[in-house]
Amino acid sequence: MKFLVTGGAGFIGSNLTLHLEKEGHGVTVLDDFSSGQENNLKGFKGEVIRADIATFNLSSKFKKLDAIFHEAAITDTTITDEKKMFHTNVDGFQNVLDLASRIHAKVVYASSAAVYGKGPSPMKESQKSAPTNCYGASKAKMDEIAQEAMKGGKISSIIGLRYFNVFGPREEYKGSAASMIYQLAQQMKGGRRPRVFKYGEQRRDFVYVKDVMLANLLAFQSGKSGIANIGTGRATSFNEVIETLNRALGFSYGPDYFDNPYSFYQEHTEADLSFAKQLLGYHPHYTTQEGIKDYLGHPSAAHSKSR
Ligand SMILES: NC(=O)c1ccc[n+]([C@@H]2O[C@H](COP(=O)([O-])OP(=O)(O)OC[C@H]3O[C@@H](n4cnc5c(N)ncnc54)[C@H](O)[C@@H]3O)[C@@H](O)[C@H]2O)c1
Repeated sequence: MKFLVTGGAGFIGSNLTLHLEKEGHGVTVLDDFSSGQENNLKGFKGEVIRADIATFNLSSKFKKLDAIFHEAAITDTTITDEKKMFHTNVDGFQNVLDLASRIHAKVVYASSAAVYGKGPSPMKESQKSAPTNCYGASKAKMDEIAQEAMKGGKISSIIGLRYFNVFGPREEYKGSAASMIYQLAQQMKGGRRPRVFKYGEQRRDFVYVKDVMLANLLAFQSGKSGIANIGTGRATSFNEVIETLNRALGFSYGPDYFDNPYSFYQEHTEADLSFAKQLLGYHPHYTTQEGIKDYLGHPSAAHSKSR
């Protein structure tokens, strides 16, 4: 099979790219390296196009692809420049859809739980989107465009995956944008108490990147269209994450609580997975706790000890 992975030098995109190549597929990566890293693609033998997804002339380059896995996006949720955010995330997605309809490729794209904002949880795809920042608004707009394209029928299969909080190998370089699991583990490995907002009972659906890859593969294989949540189906508190990290790393650090300065902070996210099961047959293989253990055994976790 021939695939394009946009954002393939990023955290999720590089895991997916290397997996697809290992499975024997021909993979091309397109990335502008604004947040992605060459190091993430160590060992990758396919072509890497350094370009902006919003402006690159995709049709002049690609005449045949089985699918486009679209991961490229501005992923820093603190960015408030709406024009910039929408240009990359929304115009970039439109460029991908235009190519897909021209060359009859399937599309699997990254949406986000950020579309739900502070909405009721467990979060269902049918609930009203209520993003609290311009990143979430850009993902909600992408979903709207995807739904229109599904109705238009020019693309045989479009699947949007609303990832919850993803963690795992190759997120290291993201720094402050990396997962809370990564941040807390780093603090503890550095001999510091893990810092969380008072009183650590905020809950997130932390999903391991290997399950996100699984969801992408199922989405491609399904040949269907729709937008589905991708998480573990269970919310885990920051206090519970700290307990799991203590056990896995052999520490006994108590949390260092501090005031939360953000009014738009999501207190509780949890994916309702009923539709993902129905649409894709998606069942996560890892609980958050199992994912953390697997992650800490990965060579990149050992490497990050010395950072
Ligand atoms: N990590 C999570 O918890 C999470 C949760 C929900 C949704 N998502 C979505 O998943 C996708 C991948 O996220 P990630 O965590 O791997 O983030 P990331 O920042 O590591 O990856 C994004 C990649 O897109 C590239 N990129 C950015 N702007 C681009 C442009 N204009 N042209 C080409 N490439 C560009 C970056 O260089 C980077 O390699 C994103 O669409 C993100 O919105 C991630």
